[in-house]
Amino acid sequence: MLNRRFLLSQRPQGLPTEEHVTYTEEPVKALKDGEILIKNDFISLDPAIRGWMDDVPSYLPPIALGDPVRATTIGKVVDSKNSEFKAGDLVLGLNGWEDYSVSTGFVGPNKMGVIEDTFGLPLEYFLSVLGPTGLTAYFGVEDILRPKKDQALVVSAAAGAVGSIVGQIAKIKGAKTIGLAGSEEKCQRLTSRFGFDSAINYHTNNLDAAIKEATPNGVDLYFDNVGGDILDTLLLNMNDFGRIAMCGMISQYNATEPVPGPYNMWQVVVKSLTLQGFLIRDYADRFGEAFESLAHWLNDGLIKHEDHVVVGLEKTLDSFALLFNGGNQGKLTIKVRQD
Ligand SMILES: NC(=O)c1ccc[n+]([C@@H]2O[C@H](COP(=O)([O-])OP(=O)(O)OC[C@H]3O[C@@H](n4cnc5c(N)ncnc54)[C@H](OP(=O)(O)O)[C@@H]3O)[C@@H](O)[C@H]2O)c1
Repeated sequence: MLNRRFLLSQRPQGLPTEEHVTYTEEPVKALKDGEILIKNDFISLDPAIRGWMDDVPSYLPPIALGDPVRATTIGKVVDSKNSEFKAGDLVLGLNGWEDYSVSTGFVGPNKMGVIEDTFGLPLEYFLSVLGPTGLTAYFGVEDILRPKKDQALVVSAAAGAVGSIVGQIAKIKGAKTIGLAGSEEKCQRLTSRFGFDSAINYHTNNLDAAIKEATPNGVDLYFDNVGGDILDTLLLNMNDFGRIAMCGMISQYNATEPVPGPYNMWQVVVKSLTLQGFLIRDYADRFGEAFESLAHWLNDGLIKHEDHVVVGLEKTLDSFALLFNGGNQGKLTIKVRQD
Protein backbone atom coordinates (compact mmCIF):
# COMPACT_ATOMS: atom_id res chain seq x y z
CA MET A 1 0.00 0.00 0.00
CA LEU A 2 1.31 3.38 -1.03
CA ASN A 3 1.00 6.23 1.48
CA ARG A 4 0.72 9.78 0.13
CA ARG A 5 2.04 12.12 2.84
CA PHE A 6 2.98 15.74 3.52
CA LEU A 7 6.09 15.88 5.74
CA LEU A 8 7.35 18.94 7.59
CA SER A 9 10.79 19.44 6.08
CA GLN A 10 11.61 22.98 7.34
CA ARG A 11 10.18 25.32 9.95
CA PRO A 12 8.19 27.96 8.01
CA GLN A 13 8.70 31.70 8.24
CA GLY A 14 5.23 33.00 7.41
CA LEU A 15 2.77 30.86 5.50
CA PRO A 16 4.05 27.30 4.85
CA THR A 17 4.79 26.45 1.22
CA GLU A 18 6.28 23.48 -0.66
CA GLU A 19 9.66 24.65 0.63
CA HIS A 20 8.60 23.70 4.16
CA VAL A 21 6.13 20.87 3.56
CA THR A 22 7.22 18.09 1.21
CA TYR A 23 4.86 15.73 -0.60
CA THR A 24 6.08 12.11 -0.70
CA GLU A 25 4.74 8.69 -1.61
CA GLU A 26 6.11 5.77 0.37
CA PRO A 27 5.03 2.26 1.39
CA VAL A 28 3.00 1.94 4.60
CA LYS A 29 5.17 0.79 7.53
CA ALA A 30 4.59 -2.67 9.05
CA LEU A 31 2.74 -2.53 12.37
CA LYS A 32 4.50 -3.21 15.67
CA ASP A 33 2.75 -4.67 18.72
CA GLY A 34 0.38 -2.09 20.25
CA GLU A 35 -0.10 -0.17 16.98
CA ILE A 36 -3.06 0.32 14.67
CA LEU A 37 -3.23 1.27 11.00
CA ILE A 38 -5.81 3.94 10.14
CA LYS A 39 -7.01 4.74 6.63
CA ASN A 40 -7.85 8.44 6.88
CA ASP A 41 -11.09 9.64 5.27
CA PHE A 42 -11.25 13.27 6.49
CA ILE A 43 -8.51 15.65 7.64
CA SER A 44 -9.36 18.72 9.70
CA LEU A 45 -7.46 21.84 8.62
CA ASP A 46 -7.14 24.03 11.72
CA PRO A 47 -5.22 27.27 12.33
CA ALA A 48 -3.51 25.60 15.32
CA ILE A 49 -1.53 23.36 12.93
CA ARG A 50 0.50 26.44 11.96
CA GLY A 51 1.59 26.84 15.59
CA TRP A 52 2.64 23.17 15.84
CA MET A 53 5.05 23.75 12.93
CA ASP A 54 7.08 26.22 15.06
CA ASP A 55 9.68 25.17 17.60
CA VAL A 56 8.16 27.16 20.47
CA PRO A 57 6.59 26.11 23.77
CA SER A 58 2.96 25.11 23.35
CA TYR A 59 0.39 22.64 24.67
CA LEU A 60 1.72 19.97 22.27
CA PRO A 61 5.35 19.36 21.24
CA PRO A 62 6.36 20.87 17.89
CA ILE A 63 5.93 18.59 14.89
CA ALA A 64 9.36 16.97 14.43
CA LEU A 65 11.11 17.72 11.14
CA GLY A 66 10.55 14.76 8.82
CA ASP A 67 7.23 13.81 10.44
CA PRO A 68 3.87 14.16 8.70
CA VAL A 69 2.09 17.45 9.43
CA ARG A 70 -0.09 16.75 12.46
CA ALA A 71 -3.88 17.06 12.16
CA THR A 72 -7.08 15.68 13.58
CA THR A 73 -8.48 13.04 11.24
CA ILE A 74 -11.39 10.66 10.96
CA GLY A 75 -10.55 7.28 9.51
CA LYS A 76 -11.14 3.57 9.69
CA VAL A 77 -8.89 1.08 11.48
CA VAL A 78 -7.78 -1.32 8.74
CA ASP A 79 -5.33 -3.38 10.81
CA SER A 80 -4.77 -3.64 14.55
CA LYS A 81 -2.13 -5.03 16.87
CA ASN A 82 -3.74 -3.28 19.82
CA SER A 83 -6.48 -5.02 21.80
CA GLU A 84 -8.29 -1.68 22.43
CA PHE A 85 -9.09 -1.27 18.71
CA LYS A 86 -10.34 -3.62 16.01
CA ALA A 87 -10.40 -3.44 12.23
CA GLY A 88 -13.51 -1.53 11.14
CA ASP A 89 -13.51 0.93 14.09
CA LEU A 90 -14.16 4.51 12.99
CA VAL A 91 -11.68 6.65 14.92
CA LEU A 92 -11.18 10.37 15.47
CA GLY A 93 -7.83 11.63 16.74
CA LEU A 94 -4.52 13.34 16.09
CA ASN A 95 -2.84 11.79 13.04
CA GLY A 96 -1.41 13.50 9.97
CA TRP A 97 -1.72 14.84 6.44
CA GLU A 98 -1.51 11.35 4.92
CA ASP A 99 -3.59 8.47 3.52
CA TYR A 100 -2.59 6.02 6.24
CA SER A 101 -1.52 6.74 9.83
CA VAL A 102 0.20 4.31 12.16
CA SER A 103 -0.75 5.08 15.77
CA THR A 104 -0.78 3.61 19.24
CA GLY A 105 -4.34 4.88 19.45
CA PHE A 106 -3.34 7.25 22.26
CA VAL A 107 -2.17 10.87 22.45
CA GLY A 108 -0.49 11.10 25.84
CA PRO A 109 -2.94 9.49 28.27
CA ASN A 110 -5.95 10.10 26.01
CA LYS A 111 -7.40 7.29 23.94
CA MET A 112 -8.41 8.13 20.41
CA GLY A 113 -12.16 8.62 20.09
CA VAL A 114 -14.18 5.80 18.53
CA ILE A 115 -17.29 7.02 16.69
CA GLU A 116 -19.81 4.33 17.63
CA ASP A 117 -22.74 5.83 15.73
CA THR A 118 -22.83 8.52 13.04
CA PHE A 119 -26.64 8.88 13.40
CA GLY A 120 -26.73 8.93 9.59
CA LEU A 121 -24.90 12.29 9.56
CA PRO A 122 -22.05 13.12 7.17
CA LEU A 123 -18.71 12.19 8.73
CA GLU A 124 -17.32 15.73 8.38
CA TYR A 125 -19.86 16.95 10.97
CA PHE A 126 -17.76 15.14 13.60
CA LEU A 127 -14.84 17.49 12.82
CA SER A 128 -17.00 20.62 12.70
CA VAL A 129 -20.31 21.42 14.35
CA LEU A 130 -20.37 18.19 16.40
CA GLY A 131 -16.57 18.05 16.68
CA PRO A 132 -13.68 20.13 18.02
CA THR A 133 -14.73 23.51 16.57
CA GLY A 134 -18.37 23.21 17.67
CA LEU A 135 -17.27 22.10 21.13
CA THR A 136 -14.80 25.02 21.37
CA ALA A 137 -17.62 27.45 20.64
CA TYR A 138 -19.83 25.73 23.19
CA PHE A 139 -17.40 25.90 26.12
CA GLY A 140 -16.19 29.41 25.29
CA VAL A 141 -19.76 30.69 25.41
CA GLU A 142 -21.29 28.46 28.10
CA ASP A 143 -18.37 28.35 30.48
CA ILE A 144 -16.39 31.55 29.99
CA LEU A 145 -18.67 34.25 28.56
CA ARG A 146 -21.93 33.01 30.11
CA PRO A 147 -24.10 35.58 28.27
CA LYS A 148 -27.22 36.97 29.89
CA LYS A 149 -30.26 38.26 28.03
CA ASP A 150 -29.58 41.39 25.96
CA GLN A 151 -25.85 41.52 26.73
CA ALA A 152 -23.80 42.64 23.73
CA LEU A 153 -21.46 39.84 22.58
CA VAL A 154 -18.91 40.43 19.81
CA VAL A 155 -17.08 37.57 18.08
CA SER A 156 -14.21 37.84 15.58
CA ALA A 157 -13.64 35.46 12.64
CA ALA A 158 -17.41 35.19 13.03
CA ALA A 159 -18.10 33.49 9.69
CA GLY A 160 -15.62 30.71 10.45
CA ALA A 161 -15.99 27.30 12.02
CA VAL A 162 -15.83 28.39 15.67
CA GLY A 163 -17.18 31.93 15.28
CA SER A 164 -20.37 31.06 13.43
CA ILE A 165 -21.37 28.59 16.17
CA VAL A 166 -20.41 31.05 18.94
CA GLY A 167 -22.85 33.64 17.58
CA GLN A 168 -25.69 31.16 17.32
CA ILE A 169 -25.24 29.70 20.83
CA ALA A 170 -25.05 33.22 22.25
CA LYS A 171 -28.28 34.06 20.43
CA ILE A 172 -29.98 30.99 21.92
CA LYS A 173 -28.96 32.40 25.33
CA GLY A 174 -30.59 35.74 24.49
CA ALA A 175 -27.49 37.86 23.82
CA LYS A 176 -27.28 40.57 21.20
CA THR A 177 -24.71 39.24 18.74
CA ILE A 178 -22.29 41.22 16.59
CA GLY A 179 -19.98 39.35 14.20
CA LEU A 180 -16.74 40.62 12.66
CA ALA A 181 -15.72 39.17 9.29
CA GLY A 182 -13.42 39.99 6.40
CA SER A 183 -15.82 40.53 3.48
CA GLU A 184 -19.24 41.97 2.68
CA GLU A 185 -20.38 38.56 1.49
CA LYS A 186 -19.42 36.94 4.82
CA CYS A 187 -21.16 39.76 6.73
CA GLN A 188 -24.29 39.18 4.70
CA ARG A 189 -24.16 35.47 5.60
CA LEU A 190 -23.74 36.28 9.29
CA THR A 191 -27.05 38.09 9.50
CA SER A 192 -29.09 36.21 6.90
CA ARG A 193 -27.97 32.63 7.56
CA PHE A 194 -26.49 32.57 11.05
CA GLY A 195 -28.93 35.04 12.64
CA PHE A 196 -26.44 37.58 14.03
CA ASP A 197 -28.03 40.90 15.01
CA SER A 198 -25.37 42.78 13.06
CA ALA A 199 -22.10 42.22 11.23
CA ILE A 200 -19.07 44.40 10.60
CA ASN A 201 -16.53 44.04 7.82
CA TYR A 202 -13.33 44.77 9.72
CA HIS A 203 -11.40 45.56 6.48
CA THR A 204 -13.61 48.26 5.09
CA ASN A 205 -14.87 50.05 8.18
CA ASN A 206 -13.41 52.26 10.82
CA LEU A 207 -13.71 49.39 13.30
CA ASP A 208 -13.90 51.54 16.42
CA ALA A 209 -16.73 53.66 14.99
CA ALA A 210 -18.56 50.62 13.62
CA ILE A 211 -18.41 48.82 16.98
CA LYS A 212 -19.68 51.93 18.77
CA GLU A 213 -22.56 52.19 16.32
CA ALA A 214 -23.48 48.49 16.67
CA THR A 215 -23.20 48.53 20.48
CA PRO A 216 -24.46 51.90 21.74
CA ASN A 217 -24.38 50.56 25.32
CA GLY A 218 -20.86 49.11 24.98
CA VAL A 219 -19.58 45.54 24.66
CA ASP A 220 -20.18 43.15 27.55
CA LEU A 221 -18.55 40.03 26.13
CA TYR A 222 -15.93 39.40 23.45
CA PHE A 223 -15.02 36.01 21.96
CA ASP A 224 -11.54 36.60 20.51
CA ASN A 225 -10.40 34.37 17.65
CA VAL A 226 -7.87 36.75 16.13
CA GLY A 227 -5.92 38.93 18.63
CA GLY A 228 -3.94 41.87 17.18
CA ASP A 229 -5.51 45.24 16.27
CA ILE A 230 -9.04 43.87 16.59
CA LEU A 231 -8.44 42.86 20.22
CA ASP A 232 -6.98 46.31 20.88
CA THR A 233 -10.06 48.01 19.47
CA LEU A 234 -12.38 45.78 21.49
CA LEU A 235 -10.48 46.55 24.70
CA LEU A 236 -11.41 50.22 24.20
CA ASN A 237 -15.09 49.33 23.78
CA MET A 238 -15.59 46.90 26.68
CA ASN A 239 -17.96 47.70 29.53
CA ASP A 240 -16.88 47.54 33.17
CA PHE A 241 -16.58 43.94 34.42
CA GLY A 242 -16.70 42.69 30.79
CA ARG A 243 -15.30 39.28 29.93
CA ILE A 244 -13.10 38.21 27.02
CA ALA A 245 -12.73 34.56 26.02
CA MET A 246 -9.26 34.21 24.46
CA CYS A 247 -9.76 31.38 21.97
CA GLY A 248 -7.15 32.09 19.28
CA MET A 249 -4.84 34.70 17.74
CA ILE A 250 -4.92 33.84 14.05
CA SER A 251 -3.68 37.33 13.05
CA GLN A 252 -0.24 36.46 14.38
CA TYR A 253 0.26 32.75 13.57
CA ASN A 254 2.29 33.61 10.44
CA ALA A 255 4.10 36.60 11.93
CA THR A 256 7.76 36.84 10.90
CA GLU A 257 8.58 39.65 13.37
CA PRO A 258 7.80 40.00 17.09
CA VAL A 259 4.13 40.93 17.41
CA PRO A 260 3.44 44.37 18.94
CA GLY A 261 0.78 45.13 21.52
CA PRO A 262 -1.93 44.82 22.57
CA TYR A 263 -1.50 48.50 23.40
CA ASN A 264 -4.69 48.98 25.38
CA MET A 265 -4.06 46.49 28.21
CA TRP A 266 -4.58 49.29 30.75
CA GLN A 267 -8.29 48.95 29.93
CA VAL A 268 -8.22 45.57 31.67
CA VAL A 269 -7.39 47.37 34.91
CA VAL A 270 -9.58 50.45 34.61
CA LYS A 271 -12.63 48.40 33.59
CA SER A 272 -12.00 45.40 35.86
CA LEU A 273 -12.10 43.09 32.83
CA THR A 274 -11.57 39.34 32.91
CA LEU A 275 -9.54 37.81 30.08
CA GLN A 276 -9.53 34.03 30.09
CA GLY A 277 -7.67 31.76 27.70
CA PHE A 278 -8.89 28.23 27.16
CA LEU A 279 -8.24 25.09 25.14
CA ILE A 280 -10.91 22.68 24.07
CA ARG A 281 -8.96 19.82 25.62
CA ASP A 282 -9.44 21.44 29.08
CA TYR A 283 -13.04 20.25 28.83
CA ALA A 284 -12.45 16.61 27.81
CA ASP A 285 -14.59 15.30 30.68
CA ARG A 286 -17.58 17.38 29.48
CA PHE A 287 -17.47 16.59 25.74
CA GLY A 288 -20.61 14.43 26.09
CA GLU A 289 -22.64 17.35 27.49
CA ALA A 290 -21.54 19.67 24.66
CA PHE A 291 -22.16 17.05 21.99
CA GLU A 292 -25.69 16.44 23.26
CA SER A 293 -26.57 20.15 23.34
CA LEU A 294 -25.11 20.82 19.88
CA ALA A 295 -26.83 17.76 18.38
CA HIS A 296 -30.13 18.83 19.93
CA TRP A 297 -29.83 22.44 18.61
CA LEU A 298 -28.78 21.17 15.19
CA ASN A 299 -31.71 18.79 15.04
CA ASP A 300 -34.13 21.55 16.08
CA GLY A 301 -32.76 23.92 13.41
CA LEU A 302 -31.49 26.35 16.08
CA ILE A 303 -27.95 26.24 14.72
CA LYS A 304 -26.78 26.12 11.13
CA HIS A 305 -23.26 25.40 9.99
CA GLU A 306 -21.12 25.27 6.90
CA ASP A 307 -18.50 22.72 5.97
CA HIS A 308 -15.96 23.71 3.32
CA VAL A 309 -14.85 20.30 2.10
CA VAL A 310 -12.00 20.08 -0.42
CA VAL A 311 -11.70 16.70 -2.12
CA GLY A 312 -8.21 15.24 -2.66
CA LEU A 313 -5.31 14.80 -0.25
CA GLU A 314 -3.00 16.38 -2.84
CA LYS A 315 -4.78 19.73 -2.27
CA THR A 316 -4.07 19.80 1.49
CA LEU A 317 -1.15 22.24 1.56
CA ASP A 318 -2.72 24.73 -0.88
CA SER A 319 -6.03 24.56 0.98
CA PHE A 320 -4.36 25.28 4.34
CA ALA A 321 -3.64 28.84 3.11
CA LEU A 322 -7.39 29.53 2.86
CA LEU A 323 -7.57 29.79 6.66
CA PHE A 324 -5.17 32.73 6.60
CA ASN A 325 -6.45 34.61 3.56
CA GLY A 326 -10.10 34.22 4.53
CA GLY A 327 -10.86 31.94 1.57
CA ASN A 328 -12.56 29.26 3.65
CA GLN A 329 -16.35 29.36 3.86
CA GLY A 330 -16.97 27.52 7.12
CA LYS A 331 -15.11 24.57 8.59
CA LEU A 332 -12.23 23.65 6.30
CA THR A 333 -11.81 19.92 5.86
CA ILE A 334 -10.04 17.66 3.38
CA LYS A 335 -11.90 14.62 2.10
CA VAL A 336 -8.88 12.44 1.42
CA ARG A 337 -10.21 10.75 -1.72
CA GLN A 338 -13.35 10.70 -3.85
CA ASP A 339 -15.67 7.78 -2.88
N1 LIG B 1 -8.74 27.41 22.01
C1 LIG B 1 -9.07 26.31 21.33
O1 LIG B 1 -9.15 25.20 21.85
C2 LIG B 1 -9.35 26.47 19.86
C3 LIG B 1 -9.96 25.42 19.14
C4 LIG B 1 -10.26 25.64 17.77
C5 LIG B 1 -9.91 26.85 17.18
N2 LIG B 1 -9.29 27.81 17.92
C6 LIG B 1 -8.93 29.12 17.35
O2 LIG B 1 -10.14 29.70 16.88
C7 LIG B 1 -9.83 30.59 15.79
C8 LIG B 1 -10.76 30.27 14.62
O3 LIG B 1 -10.48 28.95 14.16
P1 LIG B 1 -11.44 28.23 13.11
O4 LIG B 1 -11.00 26.82 13.04
O5 LIG B 1 -12.84 28.53 13.45
O6 LIG B 1 -11.04 28.94 11.76
P2 LIG B 1 -12.00 29.73 10.77
O7 LIG B 1 -12.56 30.88 11.53
O8 LIG B 1 -12.94 28.77 10.13
O9 LIG B 1 -10.98 30.24 9.66
C9 LIG B 1 -10.07 31.23 9.95
C10 LIG B 1 -10.63 32.64 9.65
O10 LIG B 1 -9.85 33.60 10.35
C11 LIG B 1 -9.96 34.84 9.70
N3 LIG B 1 -8.63 35.46 9.65
C12 LIG B 1 -7.52 34.99 9.07
N4 LIG B 1 -6.49 35.85 9.23
C13 LIG B 1 -6.99 36.90 9.94
C14 LIG B 1 -6.44 38.13 10.42
N5 LIG B 1 -5.15 38.45 10.20
N6 LIG B 1 -7.24 38.98 11.10
C15 LIG B 1 -8.54 38.68 11.31
N7 LIG B 1 -9.13 37.53 10.89
C16 LIG B 1 -8.37 36.66 10.21
C17 LIG B 1 -10.48 34.55 8.28
O11 LIG B 1 -11.82 35.05 8.19
P3 LIG B 1 -12.15 36.52 7.64
O12 LIG B 1 -12.41 36.37 6.16
O13 LIG B 1 -13.34 36.92 8.41
O14 LIG B 1 -10.93 37.37 7.90
C18 LIG B 1 -10.50 33.03 8.19
O15 LIG B 1 -11.55 32.56 7.40
C19 LIG B 1 -8.35 30.41 15.49
O16 LIG B 1 -7.62 31.44 16.13
C20 LIG B 1 -8.03 29.07 16.13
O17 LIG B 1 -6.67 28.95 16.47
C21 LIG B 1 -9.01 27.64 19.25
